[in-house]
Amino acid sequence: MRVEVHPAEHWADVVAAELAATLGRPGGARVCLATGSTPAPVYRRVPAALAALGLDAGASIVVLLDEYVGLPPDDPARCDAQLRSQLIERLHPPPAFVPIPVDDLPPAAAAAALDRVAAAGLDLAIVGLGLNGHVGMNEPGSAPSAPTRVVEIAPITSRVAVERYGATAAPTAGVTLGIDRLLGAAELWLVVSGAAKADMLRAVLEQPPDSARPASFLRRHPRLRVIADEPAARLLADRSPTRA
Ligand code: F6R
Repeated sequence: MRVEVHPAEHWADVVAAELAATLGRPGGARVCLATGSTPAPVYRRVPAALAALGLDAGASIVVLLDEYVGLPPDDPARCDAQLRSQLIERLHPPPAFVPIPVDDLPPAAAAAALDRVAAAGLDLAIVGLGLNGHVGMNEPGSAPSAPTRVVEIAPITSRVAVERYGATAAPTAGVTLGIDRLLGAAELWLVVSGAAKADMLRAVLEQPPDSARPASFLRRHPRLRVIADEPAARLLADRSPTRA
């Protein structure tokens, strides 16, 4: 595991530049992306970062990490809507986008479709950290072997969907990529920003891995990169700017 800490004012630029380099790789990359408040400023910076590198994302494939079940297609909290507006629609040419087909298929079939896409291989997965230690919608109680599946959403996750992402109804279920598939990605980045995540980030990185904090199982990945801003990293035992 490598923990990288950046000043809050540069954090999103740093992550955007690295994501742009991956999306602009010759031949493209298969990248699975989270949504939510943490990566939103990163995604908004990717078009400029690609332009600065003289690259485009047209050969890449972006796979959605998770999706609510039961929210209408035009709901602002929908993960596919967030990723389209923050990233996909800003890229010219756009990468191929693979949302989770929760409107067209029963939830279990939508999960199976997502799993098939991930099973074909992911060059990179970027995930955020839930306030309760979840990753994707792998809520507390999830095992390290948790597969891609339909899940019940924790009450706090449902509240966040309404209060922070503007969901028109409180979601109670979702489809998420499993921790097993995240651990199988060639590269895995846990991106964390803001002081509100500091306690959980410390627990995830410094306490023994535990299903009470599913994100702690990401430490099993051989090349996990934790990319945090200084407010999120402020409680870590070693806060030097970059440490392995
Ligand atoms: C969203 C997702 C979630 C979020 C997590 C943090 O696709 O998978 O696990 O990454 O809830 O959300 P924010 O970044 O809004 O604090």
